[in-house]
Amino acid sequence: MYNRAKVIANEIKKYDEILIISHIDADGISAAGIASSSLMREGIEHRVQFIKQLDNTVIKNLKNENKMVWFTDLGSGNLHELQDLNAVITDHHVPSQREIPLSDRKDLLTLFNAVEKNTLHLNPHLFGRDGARDISGAGTAYLVAKALSAENIDLSALAIVGAVGDLQSIENRRLIGTNRDILNDGGKAGVLSWKIDIQFFGRETRPVFKLLQYANDPLIPKLTGNKENCIDFLLGLGIDLKEGEEWRKWVDLTKAERKRIVSEIVTILLKKGFGHALAERVLGEVYILQKEEGALRAAKEFATLLNSCGRYEKADIGYQICLGDRDKWLKKAESLLLGHRKTLVNSLQFIKEIGITEKRYIQYFHGKDEILDSVIGITASMLLGSGEINQKLPIFAFANTKEGIKVSARSTRSLISKGLDLSIVMKEASKQVGGHGGGHNIAAGATIPYGTEEEFLDTSEEIIRKQLGK
Ligand code: C5P
Ligand code: C5P
Ligand code: ZN
Repeated sequence: MYNRAKVIANEIKKYDEILIISHIDADGISAAGIASSSLMREGIEHRVQFIKQLDNTVIKNLKNENKMVWFTDLGSGNLHELQDLNAVITDHHVPSQREIPLSDRKDLLTLFNAVEKNTLHLNPHLFGRDGARDISGAGTAYLVAKALSAENIDLSALAIVGAVGDLQSIENRRLIGTNRDILNDGGKAGVLSWKIDIQFFGRETRPVFKLLQYANDPLIPKLTGNKENCIDFLLGLGIDLKEGEEWRKWVDLTKAERKRIVSEIVTILLKKGFGHALAERVLGEVYILQKEEGALRAAKEFATLLNSCGRYEKADIGYQICLGDRDKWLKKAESLLLGHRKTLVNSLQFIKEIGITEKRYIQYFHGKDEILDSVIGITASMLLGSGEINQKLPIFAFANTKEGIKVSARSTRSLISKGLDLSIVMKEASKQVGGHGGGHNIAAGATIPYGTEEEFLDTSEEIIRKQLGK
């Protein structure tokens, strides 16, 4: 991967003008921030365009524009369609030829090289790594930035924001694979540190009772949503809420106090019958951006802020923040964050009302016009991650859009280890009904024509049945 990054960097240096095309989510925005900063430092003129997905219209326009393009956090799923473009790709989605069995890896690589005549492509799947957890779109962009100049290792902080935004640390409660190399770069550059700590939002910014009151992953029975209970809970553990006039934040507590709170929360969760896997999620590795202040210090909160922009057609605001603009843009992003939180609460409430339907190999719900297509995937991830719904079936979520029906699919590691691969399911089943899709084994998506949901579900069930060897 480092060698490929070097080749791409050398190619980039040949141009004095580049168009960056990136995805609208936290990873895509971080990736664009990295690409843009690295080009700025090289003195290469560039513009950034954010898109929800790379479809035929976008590709056609790009071909007409005839510019050198740097795709970040997308492109790999459309390799065949990009053949005549002058482009480099740094992405982590499953590349379009993945249907070829892995046992034919050698042929696979030959084919990639053939397709790549004009496209220089950096993707972990080409190097036997997993794009869902080893490295994100921002990470691949970072490798090229680092190859452009060793001074760019400060951009590793954004690469970690991207990886955390794509939930790459969820399964192991820590980042693994190439992400660890990137972390180490961040440590060396003095821009990142990491430690095991409570996973909730606001460690550095919220009074401790508020951290508990707003805890949502996992929810803490009786505490989440109830201010008085949170205050009583802390007082009951002998924790002073204030120091002088100031509310104490999580980072102000002593190690012993933090330990007391965590072990009490875990006890509550276990007593309420939540499994160990969920209770363990209270703790995990957290990533701290040393040069940032407030919410931006926590990689997870930084990523959520970026999602609050990108998912509401305001990716540019997140991008400015990535570039270091902290005044006007940060305020705008913070107000978008409030809206994002409300949208998620309302979406989850709607799903509660309509319920989830279980088929043989899939569970699903339809958000219709009530859930935004840009957050339907987040709600599906939250539901499956909450442990409150069936963990034995992947979840499919639908939403209406102007272009058709958006599908988001999410799975568990346990199903993946049994053979399930949602990137293939989304790609194949959507093709069958005249749509298109792709993604990762554990999280993938598609757009399909109106009214084809039933056929799409049936086709997907058949593919999943085969994948699971039933
Ligand atoms: O387009 P992109 O690759 O950036 O998005 C990855 C998606 O996969 C994110 O929406 C993320 O939430 C999801 N994901 C997940 N569970 C994982 C890993 C990724 O839901 N374990
Ligand atoms: O949109 P959603 O969050 O469900 O997407 C999950 C993953 O699938 C993301 O990595 C996204 O980029 C990818 N995806 C794709 N093609 C689509 C829709 C989603 O590759 N048509
Ligand atoms: Zn990504």
